[in-house]
Amino acid sequence: MCGIVGYIGSNKAKDVVIKGLKRLEYRGYDSAGIAIVNGTLSVKKCKGKVASLESLLTEDDKGNIAIGHTRWATHGEPNDINSHPHISSSGKLAVVHNGIIENYNVLKQKLQEDGYEFYSQTDTEIVAKLIESFIDKDPSVELVKAVKLSLAQIKGTYGLAILHVDYPDTIIVARKGSPLLIGVGEGEMLIASDASAVAEYTDKVVYLDDGELAIIKKDGYQVLNAEDVELSKEVHELAMSLEEIEKSGFPFFMLKEIFEQPKTISDSLRGRLNTEEGTITLGGLSQIMDKLVNANRIIIAACGTSWHSGLVGEYLFEWLAKTSVEVEYASEFRYKDPLIGEGDVLFVISQSGETADTLAALREAKEKGATVLGIVNVVGSTIARETDGGVYLHAGPEIGVASTKAFTSQVTVLTLIALSLAQHKGAISKEYARRIIAALSKIPDQVGEILKQSDEIEKIANLFTYAPNFLYLGRSYSFPVALEGALKLKEISYIHAEGYPAAEMKHGPIALIDEMMPVVVIASTEHTNDKMVSNVEEVKARKGRIIAITSPSNEEVKELAEFSCRIPETEDVLSPLLSVIPLQLLSYYIAVNRGCDVDQPRNLAKSVTVE
Ligand code: G6P
Repeated sequence: MCGIVGYIGSNKAKDVVIKGLKRLEYRGYDSAGIAIVNGTLSVKKCKGKVASLESLLTEDDKGNIAIGHTRWATHGEPNDINSHPHISSSGKLAVVHNGIIENYNVLKQKLQEDGYEFYSQTDTEIVAKLIESFIDKDPSVELVKAVKLSLAQIKGTYGLAILHVDYPDTIIVARKGSPLLIGVGEGEMLIASDASAVAEYTDKVVYLDDGELAIIKKDGYQVLNAEDVELSKEVHELAMSLEEIEKSGFPFFMLKEIFEQPKTISDSLRGRLNTEEGTITLGGLSQIMDKLVNANRIIIAACGTSWHSGLVGEYLFEWLAKTSVEVEYASEFRYKDPLIGEGDVLFVISQSGETADTLAALREAKEKGATVLGIVNVVGSTIARETDGGVYLHAGPEIGVASTKAFTSQVTVLTLIALSLAQHKGAISKEYARRIIAALSKIPDQVGEILKQSDEIEKIANLFTYAPNFLYLGRSYSFPVALEGALKLKEISYIHAEGYPAAEMKHGPIALIDEMMPVVVIASTEHTNDKMVSNVEEVKARKGRIIAITSPSNEEVKELAEFSCRIPETEDVLSPLLSVIPLQLLSYYIAVNRGCDVDQPRNLAKSVTVE
């Protein structure tokens, strides 16, 4: 949440920062702002998106050093005053911040007693004033020293970038809990919350770790740890093409990402599946497979869509590997004082690899001695770096706030892990493993087949665009898919939607069903077919309007439904990879019809770096 970009070099800093902020807008779009040093410090900021900020800038906003921010509001409503950058009392220093300063009230009071005035409701404004207070007290204190003294007093999380008019050749950045990286160029340096903002200018990045502070000049950088020791940081090579972070002719990133799925699922499978031999290769787990096989407990922790893929994982692990798994909301995991320790394994699933609650769950489990494994998309992200091993999704950058391709890649990877574990445990016959692996290799093409039905799904969407409520029902593997379908609709169209296990419907939601209620029935697993038919009859008897996702083995449900979308035949265990696709499209078309901003739904952000 919140995107930070900075530039120092010989080019127009404004242009680089604005472009970078646009790439980071998925992290928050409540307001945007920029601070440029060019003899003086000039700050422009406003409520709304980066485009609004851009329209405030003129040719006079020159300078080769700048920092910028796109905000997801935590403290203080989204308005011009609360927008970042925040400046010090003298107007010489500007700060942008991602995170939460937990003790800002105490610090604010102290600063107020010393005569500092505050204008915004944010926690960030204290950072600007606190740093300056050390210089005010003793003008011989250098900016870096003042920053360090301030950080020592701050409790909470931060990714910070700081500019000062008296140091026109320096950007200072610091990280604790919120991601920051340095883009290393030739005679120019960038800083950003994530690599998509720097990919156009350099393919060399240095990831900062918690407790580190960096002093950035145009020709180099110095990274210090919390003990003030200079570090020699690894320079990573970025493998991100510009095409991956552009819409490439699609009206929204979300639609592009939905249509990318035949490729992204293939990419998640690439090099890991041997259909001839019926084996799985997962390099990131090879050293750790014994621990997984012998684990006392396996827990999966995640948030949002990633939590839904974790639920699919639970079915997969139990069904294929005969291994019991618990799935936890990462945000709740810590507060149970979880019984996890040596001999246990925690899987964390995260597209961004930066979600604060998921990271906190990981750290808690690690501290208690458990083995921690990651299923992560963003290479080099904090979660990826802090786990003991894991499997990357290789789904490419996901920019639409509502997750689509990451979900199918997460489920693909979970299937591979469950199969591999099953084989190591001897819990699955060779023949059955071969059958699943053969079916898995067909999934990308089958997803392509479903995408060809997008016009039909759009027609269904047109009929239900103004329904105020939706119910999604599924059994077994289709239950997490029902949850995910409902979440997609809620997120991007603002229609109230609930996902339920089909049989649970009788314990409450059935009271809501009448001729106005669209009920999306995911009937794509063969082993629950008969029971699903009964549930659909129950909906029909109450005049609910049934939209069914069926496979060729669910003809009866198709007969009962008012509308249906047919997915190709596959193994039950793989059905979520297919049945979720029509649900993604349904919510997309409904949201577009309702005039919603599909890629940047209100109040949401993609990389949730606050708890
Ligand atoms: C936010 C996003 C969701 C995502 C969730 C978890 O809520 O809008 O799309 O599923 O965070 O994010 P992660 O990056 O950890 O998968």
